[in-house]
Amino acid sequence: HKELVIGLFGFGVVGEGLYKVLQQTPSLKAVIKKVCIKHPGKKRNAPEDLFTTDRNALLNDREINLIVEVIDDAKAGFEIVSTALKNGKDVVSSSKKMIAENLKELLRLQQETGGSLLYESSACASIPVIRNLEEYYDNDLLHSIRGIINGSTNFILTKIFEEHLAFKDALLLAQQLGFAESDPTLDVEGIDALNKLTILLLHAYGILVRPEQLLFNGIQNIAKSDAQVARSRGQQIKLVAQAQKLINGGVGAYVLPQFVAPESPLAFVKNEYNGVVIESGFADQQFFYGKGAGSFPTASAVLSDISALRYSYRYEYKKLYHHKPHQLNDDIYLKV
Ligand code: HSE
Repeated sequence: HKELVIGLFGFGVVGEGLYKVLQQTPSLKAVIKKVCIKHPGKKRNAPEDLFTTDRNALLNDREINLIVEVIDDAKAGFEIVSTALKNGKDVVSSSKKMIAENLKELLRLQQETGGSLLYESSACASIPVIRNLEEYYDNDLLHSIRGIINGSTNFILTKIFEEHLAFKDALLLAQQLGFAESDPTLDVEGIDALNKLTILLLHAYGILVRPEQLLFNGIQNIAKSDAQVARSRGQQIKLVAQAQKLINGGVGAYVLPQFVAPESPLAFVKNEYNGVVIESGFADQQFFYGKGAGSFPTASAVLSDISALRYSYRYEYKKLYHHKPHQLNDDIYLKV
């Protein structure tokens, strides 16, 4: 059966994490043949001849059947992923911004090329939330998804409110630990969570929206007085992404800071952890919890995609995502 020969784009927090993880999982028989990087001068913990700055050395290599794209430039990422699919390769990506902004085109490209694009690591890192959401049989039974889906902001809120760090020190720490985006305003202003929610909406409800159609706010405007109110009620402030079925049959979706009651499973989610509460018919409430950012937790989700592809080759089973019948939804709520 088909071996997995990987062309890796990016050797940052996620790329290097994946490199190490694959070294520890030889039974997967997935080998990185080449790594494409932007800055050749940097010292990296891998053999020098693995690296190139030439995209086409990966994209045009016929032996490479899987492109793993983990760079954080959405525009370049889209070019790489679309070329890879057109060149007959399957793709695994962690680039939530790139995916959320190009979902429609990426779906079309997969249909056209027959290639697969998997991106379990793009939302909630180590938690297999995308595949989980696809397991719900009937959208009408999926009442709501409510979660903490950005690790950096949750880390910052935890450090500020429980350890009394200053905002800028907490953010710096989140950057140093490899949780934050290279442009951390994406985290702080709620845009990273918004991008992830856009992806979750497709896999949960089959709804295709553009991120900017959804209401969102980040943690940048939370004041000391808000924290005092929360504390006086025994609550916490969390940045919550939410999607729920509305009485009129539509779905409301937004990212907003919320007061979270102590009995909510989300109150339990600290630091860079993520947590997602799903309410559904028959199953009732479920809670998915795990590390939502960082090198190995993110690489673990990339690994699960690679392993899903390995099974699909072995058993000639091509449907990796179900892709619930999707609809363009221009009047998704809530733009208030
Ligand atoms: N910056 C992201 C976060 C990384 O903090 O959640 C994981 O997607």
